Amino acid sequence: MAMVKIKAKVKTKMAKIIDGKAISKAEREKIAKEAEELKNSGILPGLAVIIVGDDPASAVYVRNKERACEEAGIYSEVIRMPENASEEEIIANIEALNANGKIHGILVQLPLPKGLDETKILSHIKASKDVDAFLPENVGLLSLGRPDMLPCTPAGVMTLLAESGIDVCGKECVVVGRSNIVGKPMAMLLLLQNGTVTVCHSKTKNIADITRRADILVCAVGKPKFITADMVKSGACVIDVGINRGDDGKLCGDVDFENVKEIAGYITPVPGGVGPMTITSLLKNTVKSAKNSQK
Ligand code: GUN
Repeated sequence: MAMVKIKAKVKTKMAKIIDGKAISKAEREKIAKEAEELKNSGILPGLAVIIVGDDPASAVYVRNKERACEEAGIYSEVIRMPENASEEEIIANIEALNANGKIHGILVQLPLPKGLDETKILSHIKASKDVDAFLPENVGLLSLGRPDMLPCTPAGVMTLLAESGIDVCGKECVVVGRSNIVGKPMAMLLLLQNGTVTVCHSKTKNIADITRRADILVCAVGKPKFITADMVKSGACVIDVGINRGDDGKLCGDVDFENVKEIAGYITPVPGGVGPMTITSLLKNTVKSAKNSQK
C-alpha cells in the first residue's frame, strides 16, 4: 500500500504587539489639546526638572522630558546642579519651585549622586506638585483608592491595557517586582480596576507556577530574559517594564520577547512598549496639576 505522507501543519498564532509609540503619540496629542485649552484660559502648565550630577542616562531622560513638554505646549525648566551639590542647595531650589506660580510639576531626576538622602530631599516637594506621585501623601491616596497624581510608569501600563481593549476586572494579574516606583503602585492600580493581584519578588518560591496563572503579567525586575516562555500562560497579556542593556549592547526588556511572543496573546516590545508611556503620564500629571491649581 502506498504511503501517503501528511505534512502536519502546526498553526502558530503570534501575540499582538502592543505599540507603545503609537498609543503614546495619540495620548500626547490629547494632552497638547488640553494644555492649549488651559493656556487659553490663562494657565500655561509648567514642569520643572532638577538634575544633579552628570549621569549620562539621566541626561538623556531629562532631554526627552524637555522635548516632550515642548511638543505638548507645556512650559518646562531644567535646573542643572553639580555632582557635589548639597542637600540644602537642592532643597532650596525645591522650595523656590514650590512657591513659583509658573510651575505645576516638580521632578527630581533619580538616582541622585551617592551620599544624598533621596527621601529627605523628595519630602520637600509640595504634594500637589509631585508629578512623579512618589510622596507618602500620593502613595497613601492611591492605596485608599482615591488617587490624585498617578504613578507615571504604572499609569502608562494601564493606558496600554485600556487602549488594547484589555479589561482588568476579574482577571488574574501577576506583578513581578515590588519596587516603590513600579511594582507596588502597579499592583494598586490593577486592584483599583478589580483585578485579582499577586505580587512576586526575589523571595517568592516557585515563581513560574504563579506567573503561569496570569491573564495579565507585568514584569519589572531589571533582569534580561527573566520571563521565559514556560512561565507564560497561552494567550496571556505580557507587559515588559524592564529596560536593560543586553550583552550585544542593545536595549532589551525583562521578557524573552522572541519566545514569549509565540505563547502570549499580547506583548509589549522593548523599546517601543512601556517606555514612551512614562513621559506621557508625566505630561498628563503636569496638566492635571495645572488644572487643580485653578480650583
Ligand atoms: N529616573 C528614572 N525614571 C524616573 C522617573 O520616572 N522619575 C524620576 N524622578 N526619576 C527617574
